[in-house]
Amino acid sequence: MQSPSRSIPRVAPRAYDYVRQVLDFGFRNAHSVGMTARLEREFAERFGQKYGIAHCNGTATMQSALMAAGVGVGDEVIVPSFTVFSTPAAVLHCNAVPIIVDVDPETWTISVDAIRAHITPRTKAIIPVAICGLPADMHPIMELAAAHDIVVMEDNAQCILGHYKGRVAGSIGHFASFSFQSSKTITCGDGGILVCSDDELALAARKAATIGFKDLTLKPGDNVVSEQLRCHPDYQRHDSFGWNQRLPEIAAAVALAELERVDELAEMRTYAASAFDRVVNECDWMIAQKTPEGYVNAYWTYTARIAREDIVWADVRAAFVERGGDGFYGSYQPAHLEPFFAKLNRAVDENPERFPHFAERLPRYESGSCPVWEGIQPRSVMLKTNYFNTRDADRQAEILAETLALFAAETA
Ligand SMILES: Cc1ncc(COP(=O)(O)O)c(C=O)c1O
Repeated sequence: MQSPSRSIPRVAPRAYDYVRQVLDFGFRNAHSVGMTARLEREFAERFGQKYGIAHCNGTATMQSALMAAGVGVGDEVIVPSFTVFSTPAAVLHCNAVPIIVDVDPETWTISVDAIRAHITPRTKAIIPVAICGLPADMHPIMELAAAHDIVVMEDNAQCILGHYKGRVAGSIGHFASFSFQSSKTITCGDGGILVCSDDELALAARKAATIGFKDLTLKPGDNVVSEQLRCHPDYQRHDSFGWNQRLPEIAAAVALAELERVDELAEMRTYAASAFDRVVNECDWMIAQKTPEGYVNAYWTYTARIAREDIVWADVRAAFVERGGDGFYGSYQPAHLEPFFAKLNRAVDENPERFPHFAERLPRYESGSCPVWEGIQPRSVMLKTNYFNTRDADRQAEILAETLALFAAETA
């Protein structure tokens, strides 16, 4: 007998109440109903770190962390080729050099061997990305970082409640960054949060996110200097430099309500991924991203690759969509092959004096430097998992099964 279908609302019912509380309170400078503070406290607690620092998105979070870690002109930060452009962009925003390295051939997360091969005296940080919801191999990364005095920031924009060897993803690096952009497991439209347990780093990150106000503290929600402090004309406000990356409290209210039901949100993603996994496991030409023993994949997407050369990616997608499938994405271009990087190389070559921090420091961002990911990426398939009704997920899995069977039959 089939188990009954289950559905959850697209937006947490409690969000409406929390937003109303913010609106009813009104917008009073430096006073608040406390949603940001609650979000920061509860998120940090759930993800195994001491402090949470809410941000306006999950790119800003990474900029603050890198600034707090002292990443600046000419420093190098190691990032994987399989990631969203935000990851290397955060490095560039610090005037630092993204060193883009290859991934593991089975998990598609950053390769530990590649990290090891690219550490130099200028390496200041590593950003392992929990891509599609799967954490990177964090223990050896933390060991390398400790040996070379390097800061590790987990980019967990896509990983809510993934686990690595018994620990929740986000609790292992010096920092972990999360996104609340609309495709993410916890969303408030746009937003993000940084978590960290080191007092000094966390305070520096809060200041980096809040124009460097000197009197900010680590108190949850402390992102505006109190009136009592700043009313006097002699008051000096800024003793460090930062962007302004605050999260609006209305958005914090929504994110808090979503956090409070995060288990069911994560379960729905896992449900959809399991349904796809049963289908893909029966197919000899579609190979899923490998989730090794001891890992829990949070399945922001269910990701696989087409392993047979004679099957054309666009034909599979067209057949899936024709049968009522929601479609799928190919993954992003390998980060180092996005046209921006070739442009940057050219700009630095042509005008080295305009880019003294990059001249003779920037690697050539060109094909061939990450052969594993360059080989897999053109044949990658990312199926969405954000279904709010198990029946919808089951139906998509059925359509995928029909689609895969069609190709097996056509090519037999
Ligand atoms: C892996 C990864 N890193 C960073 C980001 C950036 O997050 P945001 O869009 O909130 O800036 C995203 C999401 O878009 C992402 O998927």
